[in-house]
Amino acid sequence: MSTLKLTLFSSIFLLVSSRINTYTWPDPKTDILEAIYYQQSGYDGRRFGFFVRSCDIGAGNIGPGRTNSAEWVRTAYHDMATADVEAGTGGMDASIGFERDRPENVGRAFTDTLLFFEDFMSVHSSMADLIALGAVMSITACTASASQRPIYLSFRGGRIDATGPGPLGVPEPHQDLATHINSFKKQGFNVTEMIALVACGHSLGGVNGRDFPEIVSVKNDSTNIESKRNFDTTQTVLDNNIALFQRMIDTVPKTVQLSGVIAPISVKPNNIFIAVKQDGNMTITGDIRTTTGWHPYSPAFECHVLSSFTVEVIDDGQSTVYTNGGAGFPIQTDIIPQAGLSCGTIFLGTSYSLNLTVAVRDDFQLQQVILTIPIPIQQAGSIVPRFELYIQTMQRTKTLNGTGYSFRGGLKDIGMPFQLWKGLGSCSLD
Ligand code: HEM
Ligand SMILES: *[C@@H]1O[C@H](CO)[C@@H](O)[C@H](O)[C@H]1NC(C)=O
Ligand SMILES: *[C@@H]1O[C@H](CO)[C@@H](O)[C@H](O)[C@H]1NC(C)=O
Ligand SMILES: *[C@@H]1O[C@H](CO)[C@@H](O)[C@H](O)[C@H]1NC(C)=O
Ligand SMILES: *[C@@H]1O[C@H](CO)[C@@H](O)[C@H](O)[C@H]1NC(C)=O
Ligand SMILES: *[C@@H]1O[C@H](CO)[C@@H](O)[C@H](O)[C@H]1NC(C)=O
Repeated sequence: MSTLKLTLFSSIFLLVSSRINTYTWPDPKTDILEAIYYQQSGYDGRRFGFFVRSCDIGAGNIGPGRTNSAEWVRTAYHDMATADVEAGTGGMDASIGFERDRPENVGRAFTDTLLFFEDFMSVHSSMADLIALGAVMSITACTASASQRPIYLSFRGGRIDATGPGPLGVPEPHQDLATHINSFKKQGFNVTEMIALVACGHSLGGVNGRDFPEIVSVKNDSTNIESKRNFDTTQTVLDNNIALFQRMIDTVPKTVQLSGVIAPISVKPNNIFIAVKQDGNMTITGDIRTTTGWHPYSPAFECHVLSSFTVEVIDDGQSTVYTNGGAGFPIQTDIIPQAGLSCGTIFLGTSYSLNLTVAVRDDFQLQQVILTIPIPIQQAGSIVPRFELYIQTMQRTKTLNGTGYSFRGGLKDIGMPFQLWKGLGSCSLD
């Protein structure tokens, strides 16, 4: 086991570091969601929370008179509201993607919110998880003020996106009380909880007269083209009813098992790439994120074989060794993706082609190396894509004499230039 030594020169706080670290790296089910949640700004900042920095109408929002955070919370409720808790169906499942043209889902909030989240989708970050995370971060933003501590709901992952619409179920303003009581009962909330949840939800944002002229009069105001009038409730309502909000985002179909609470890991390797070179050396490059900042190292060292490493952080003369729960940060050298030999090309903005190379250990004498690529597929009736696994046998392209490795390649035309692939570099033109 080797130790990477990092000396910190600056302390930039990116993370909420007060929580307990519970998982060991790597964990594909958690790594991506953890990054989207906790890496907001700075190097490799995902900026998911950038658009819900505040609860106000004004700069940073999607349009005049609109409030992103309120729209994200409303989207979460409308997605969840088609749950039938007794039957164990529906809940936070991104079915809202199929339900946008229903009268119960009037407004632009849903389409705009889903389009924003789509950029963050992957097989390990479902739209339903992103809707839940959006609500979590909006509630934090809306409670962070000089006078009070922000609220952090617990964020779990593992939600699975629906492949079709749910039943009707979102309460509408013109319905009577009995209908509302029944809707909430189906969603798993009794009358006390219903009153509290509506009060909570409606302490954010407001009603726009363009969509609901019977509630709010339409104004002729270019700075408020939606004739929005904000709800008039105090933030303390939110404070007192956290448990309801938590239940809203954690209501999932009975077939779905949510993960544990996702807390930030204190030291996290990222973008770790090992290049197998002609001379038999391997070069490892990558980033190490610490609670106080990022440390890209490239190339940190050269060596033949490496199975794991630990990280020693020296900050202000103080040394702390991180061991990833004891076993070190593992490095896998049996089948190694070759980032420098892999790339993506966009053709005329209409199709996207992947060209991937992996180095495979010869002494394993593998008959076949199978490449599995999750391809985003547009779903009829929804703006949320689903993933289909594309499977291909990788062909041997090159033997690297004396290294113990040979290369295999795979090519796939994805057909759609989804943002989801933006992580991979472009193929060079030569
Ligand atoms: C009887 C149940 C409910 C009714 C009839 C209802 C109705 C409405 C209506 C008519 C609006 C205005 C939407 C617009 O102008 O675009 C609104 C906004 C909103 N609702 Fe509800 N709602 C209910 C329950 C809830 C619940 C349980 C939550 C969340 C926990 C919630 C969250 C919100 C939020 C955050 C907004 C503001 C959206 C924005 O400012 O863009 N609502 N609601
Ligand atoms: C609703 O459930 C809560 C527990 O979550 C309970 O305290 C409350 O009394 C119940 N209200 C009604 C009207 O049943
Ligand atoms: C809206 O206001 C503008 C300027 O204040 C005015 O020119 C316009 O006629 C008004 N439109 C209506 C429909 O009242
Ligand atoms: C590996 O890298 C080292 C250091 O750059 C070099 O001295 C050595 O010749 C390289 N090749 C092999 C086969 O070790
Ligand atoms: C794919 O990448 C490999 C390695 O970089 C390269 O040799 C090959 O020509 C590429 N194939 C295509 C079709 O671009
Ligand atoms: C690799 O070795 C094979 C035989 O073992 C030989 O035919 C081939 O020319 C060698 N390739 C290179 C690039 O040295």
